[in-house]
Amino acid sequence: MRIHQVNDYREMSQKAASIVSSQVILKKTSVLGLATGSTPEGMYHRLIEMYHEGIADFSQITTFNLDEYLGLSPQHPQSYHYYMNQHFFEHIDIPATNINIPPGKIENSENVCREYDKRIAASGGIDLQVLGIGVNGHIGFNEPDQYLNVGTHVVDLTEETIETNSRFFTSREEVPRQAITKGMGSIMQARRVLLLASGKSKAQAIRDTVNGKVTTRVPASFLQLHPQFILVLDKEAASLL
Ligand code: GLP
Repeated sequence: MRIHQVNDYREMSQKAASIVSSQVILKKTSVLGLATGSTPEGMYHRLIEMYHEGIADFSQITTFNLDEYLGLSPQHPQSYHYYMNQHFFEHIDIPATNINIPPGKIENSENVCREYDKRIAASGGIDLQVLGIGVNGHIGFNEPDQYLNVGTHVVDLTEETIETNSRFFTSREEVPRQAITKGMGSIMQARRVLLLASGKSKAQAIRDTVNGKVTTRVPASFLQLHPQFILVLDKEAASLL
């Protein structure tokens, strides 16, 4: 595990963008695992700048997003499809055919999940997986539970996550109750994992992730077992370490 501690959100975003861009510069055909949420917004912003500055070229990368809310169409402003287009994809030169995001409107979830895992495997696997973290230690939408899933699956969101994520919706009732997410196996199989955290609200989850026992009650704690686990934390997120 390698921890980069920086001062604030801006520095976290810059450091994260430099790790992602180095990956893409070293391997133009990199397969990236991407995350949503407020945490990586600054990183995407900096990556777009790097693209305009001619530092980063995304024309040959392939991406697999972590998760999506169930029931939201790609046009819904709170869907992760919409987020990714708005914050990253529509500003860079990635071909649309290289973008993979779990679908939010599905009929046969078994098939859709197996298909997503197969596509990741067929791409050669994830070179660098970017992650944020939930206040309860969830990654993607792998929520604290007695058991965790290995592959892509449908999950019931915890009350805590519904509450936390309701800030993006006009009311708590509007927050979808289920999501589709890559499983812990898909995340752990990435060659490198980059977790970003900013702010006091993440401090306890970061402490449990870095220093706690490996437990399904804190899904991110499994990353202690990953041989190439990088954390970029601002002062507040690192304050309980
Ligand atoms: C959501 C996403 C996660 C994200 C987490 C933290 O529930 N499914 O992928 O890491 O929330 O979000 P934020 O970065 O907004 O704090």
